[in-house]
Amino acid sequence: MSQPTIESILQENRLFHPSAAFSQNAHIKSLDDYHRLYEKAKTDPQTFWAELAATELHWFQNWDTVLDWQPPFAKWFVNGKLNISYNCLDRHLTTWRRNKAALIWEGEPGDSRTLTYAQLHREVCQFANALKHLGVQKGDRVGIYMPMIPEAAIAMLACARIGAAHTVVFGGFSAEALRDRLIDGEAKVVVTADGGWRKDAIVPLKEQVDKALAKGSVPSIAATLVVKRTGQEIQMQGDRDHWWHELQAHVSANCPAEPMDSEDLLFILYTSGSTGKPKGVVHTTGGYNLYTHITTKWIFDLQDTDVYWCTADVGWITGHSYIVYGPLSNGATTVMYEGAPRASNPGCFWDVIEKHGVNIFYTAPTAIRAFIKMGDEHPKARDLSSLRLLGTVGEPINPESWIWYQQIIGGGRCPIVDTWWQTETGGIMITALPGAIPTKPGSATLPFPGILAEVIDLDGNAVGANEGGYLAVRHPWPGMMRTVYGDPDRFRRTYWEHIPPKDGQYTYFAGDGARRDEDGYFWVMGRVDDVINVAGHRLGTMEIESALVSHPAVAEAAVVGKPDELKGQDIVAFVTLEGTYSASDELLKELKQHVVKEIGAIARPGEIRFADALPKTRSGKIMRRLLRDLVSGVEISGDTSTLEDRSVLEKLREG
Ligand code: PRX
Repeated sequence: MSQPTIESILQENRLFHPSAAFSQNAHIKSLDDYHRLYEKAKTDPQTFWAELAATELHWFQNWDTVLDWQPPFAKWFVNGKLNISYNCLDRHLTTWRRNKAALIWEGEPGDSRTLTYAQLHREVCQFANALKHLGVQKGDRVGIYMPMIPEAAIAMLACARIGAAHTVVFGGFSAEALRDRLIDGEAKVVVTADGGWRKDAIVPLKEQVDKALAKGSVPSIAATLVVKRTGQEIQMQGDRDHWWHELQAHVSANCPAEPMDSEDLLFILYTSGSTGKPKGVVHTTGGYNLYTHITTKWIFDLQDTDVYWCTADVGWITGHSYIVYGPLSNGATTVMYEGAPRASNPGCFWDVIEKHGVNIFYTAPTAIRAFIKMGDEHPKARDLSSLRLLGTVGEPINPESWIWYQQIIGGGRCPIVDTWWQTETGGIMITALPGAIPTKPGSATLPFPGILAEVIDLDGNAVGANEGGYLAVRHPWPGMMRTVYGDPDRFRRTYWEHIPPKDGQYTYFAGDGARRDEDGYFWVMGRVDDVINVAGHRLGTMEIESALVSHPAVAEAAVVGKPDELKGQDIVAFVTLEGTYSASDELLKELKQHVVKEIGAIARPGEIRFADALPKTRSGKIMRRLLRDLVSGVEISGDTSTLEDRSVLEKLREG
């Protein structure tokens, strides 16, 4: 098994067509239909999006302008009023979907729960009233630090219902990382659980919240709301902490959805960039609702009888857009799973598919590679015949894994949608539409209608077919992030100024390298900045470096990604030590643990190498590029003439 290299992908030209039966029943049935839609959206984007907004969503009040574009700041459906929780719940209650399964939850030690639309609506209303009871008002922010249990989705929808923005923090992040995010978002309440199950162990979430809030370090926090999940003893602070089940017994189930302005803040989600601390990506209500709704409908070809399962965690954007908001807005049945692939339960995903008759399955290449390693006998021992469509997201998929997924999981009959997008884009941007666009293993294929994606050079000019370049988007789209929370300048700098604006034309710079082939298909090669992608998790090398240098033993640190068969990339850290410290196995372990404490287990370096010095330019900048080549075992490429001391590199190479 190997990672996609430019060479392997250049040789990949197999083409897979959807079956006639699939296309006939699909929302978008042919390549011609796709091209017609794409052209329509390109020629008149405002009419294209306005028609969809009018037919697909419920509005309390119509908008008066479709798009107000003051580059790089966009407003969609200006002055329109709606509520995404209304679109995800209430509007289905007056239809036959009232008693349809909205959420099927598969919990870790065998727990399971199904909530119909009527039941989910009731729980969301109660939760919303509990938040109000704790003082949360429209315009406030609420932190959500939860395991993968229904209450995570309920809390998100409850916030949206009363107009409070949520900021979900992945349950694998440390207390320190949680604290930073709560401070930046000035959260008023944190919703958490006593614990959650992760790979056969309990993650003590409430304990982490206690650490994050210790000594009043997040002054904005007035209360916590704690869901009982794992049942172990935890400390409850009388005036601050509240059990959800206790409040639930007293709150009403009547909570009308607050009419929200289309551009009201829906959520903040923190993501890693190449510089500084994680940025709070801001998504607003109307555009995000429309974009996640229509991408879910067309890309996953949702039909009313489908059981749909996305394996992401709600702590990431994929969980927001494609477990919660997109599927529920469509009135779909969405599966939520608390577990994760692991050697101790090598059939876990396939059991869930068999048990619930999953029809549409969306996961990450890292998970696929892990399952390949565990052996074909596990999927082969389960009945996977309910599956009709497969998806992948989060990192490039190597053609070998793609073919395994297609053959062993999809039985050769299911189209695969390889979906390229980002936290910032809100929803999927480049993907096959499964009934319309033939697929090539390893390619995300073509842009979604309304997405003017291109591969360009740094002057902003499109590069030729099969030439490498930067992935970029030319025109705003409804699901795009609106700003970096509290830092509009950072938004402008990070995404809109890499490519110099020309004649008032602004170009969105995604931070990924890509190429388009002779058919216009996109092949995404990975990040071109100091962001690494470890098992589909996005991490900033600077964040890990900051964590390392906050340890007293570390003088300097440089972190790079190293190609890894299973995880896509692994983290390698080079550190120089303060004078009084010397390299040892204990220190190595301690430093790894220190990173876990500062950020979370997902950022634990696979390797730490002690060094006497790091390669630097004469002006003192660490040349990570050289370290990247070094750990990847490739010839050091590019210019090394600016290197201050060549012997440093030689020493590192020797080991
Ligand atoms: O490098 C790209 C990679 O994941 C990055 C976005 O990460 P995040 O914001 O955490 O969102 C992940 C889930 C949407 C991108 O810049 N990426 C995502 N999907 C793909 C991908 N790389 C290649 N192919 C994909 N399908």
